[in-house]
Amino acid sequence: MDAVVLAGGEGTRLRPLTRTRHKSLVPVCNRPALAILLQWLAEGGVSRAVLAVGQAGAVLLEAAQRPGFSPIPVTAVEEREPLGSGGAIRNAVREAGIEGRFLAVNGDIYAGFPLAPIVSAHERAGAQLTIALVPLEDPTGYGVAELDPEGRILRFAEKPPPDSVKRGLVNAGVWVFERELVEEIPPGPARVEETLFPALAEAGRPIFGVQCEGTWADLGTPERYLALHRQLLGERSAIAARVAIAPGAAAVRSAVGEGSEVGPGALVEDSVLWERVQVGAGASVIASVVADGVFVGAGALVRGCVVGSGATIAPGAVAIGRKLEPGERYDGRDEA
Ligand code: GTP
Repeated sequence: MDAVVLAGGEGTRLRPLTRTRHKSLVPVCNRPALAILLQWLAEGGVSRAVLAVGQAGAVLLEAAQRPGFSPIPVTAVEEREPLGSGGAIRNAVREAGIEGRFLAVNGDIYAGFPLAPIVSAHERAGAQLTIALVPLEDPTGYGVAELDPEGRILRFAEKPPPDSVKRGLVNAGVWVFERELVEEIPPGPARVEETLFPALAEAGRPIFGVQCEGTWADLGTPERYLALHRQLLGERSAIAARVAIAPGAAAVRSAVGEGSEVGPGALVEDSVLWERVQVGAGASVIASVVADGVFVGAGALVRGCVVGSGATIAPGAVAIGRKLEPGERYDGRDEA
């Protein structure tokens, strides 16, 4: 079975991280999100991945074709303009010659539940479309599905406003499609979540939801990205190769990327550090995402920040709740 991996979004909400790295290559516990996703697809029975990409697609394809990155063959179909999920699926299916049943997945998700049972459920139900659903306590900002007792989707409430719904089953961005359904995607740029899916539910067509248990997240925002790490790490840390943690320094519930250095007495807590980050003596990095090549000066405090690639936090600076652009230097002192 083929899978279309949607990876042509702009990743605006994950800026400044996505200014220098494709959203699908952002590391999750030190491994590119897309590498984890491709492995998951392969384990679920997918034999080829077609990346539906935008203009930055060459970088993604090049990474995905590096030895050791993907256990299955990967190709890419480029869009001249963003087509939305629906247009992207139609385009990729046609361009890559996908036939028969296929999967479509958002290229910015982490899925810890097994894929094969979703495809089996699709087959058993004789569905035209099956959507993986995950229960979330706070479904604000996601599409929520309502099912009948047999698992048929009755309707969607797409991205409910805050407080309108408590706990809901949300669209996990993993869809099993029958090929003929592609012809029903409206022409031009369109999101299937807002067009095809609700139209099918309204018409009483056989579309099913499968409730999936296990870790799931999208990397849409820095908050969700950090929350995913909290879930995956628990009380542990993920320390990559060639990381130097000096005596008296600690990395607690954090991911620390390859070649990073944490100086004497420094603390990294509830944070994600990409590659080659330097944390100076006595500095603290707390609840932050720090991109590659960032320098945190001695004695600095970085809390609740998202720090772009190659930025500098000056020695003794205090940065609280800031977003720093790639290469930016910060030497202020926020109120702690
Ligand atoms: P934001 O700009 O922050 O909304 O990021 P995004 O566009 O990446 O986020 P969204 O949640 O809308 O996208 C979910 C997945 O679909 C991501 O993996 C995107 O790369 C992908 N995607 C979104 N729009 C398109 C598109 O027009 N074409 C393709 N091929 N993929 C898309």
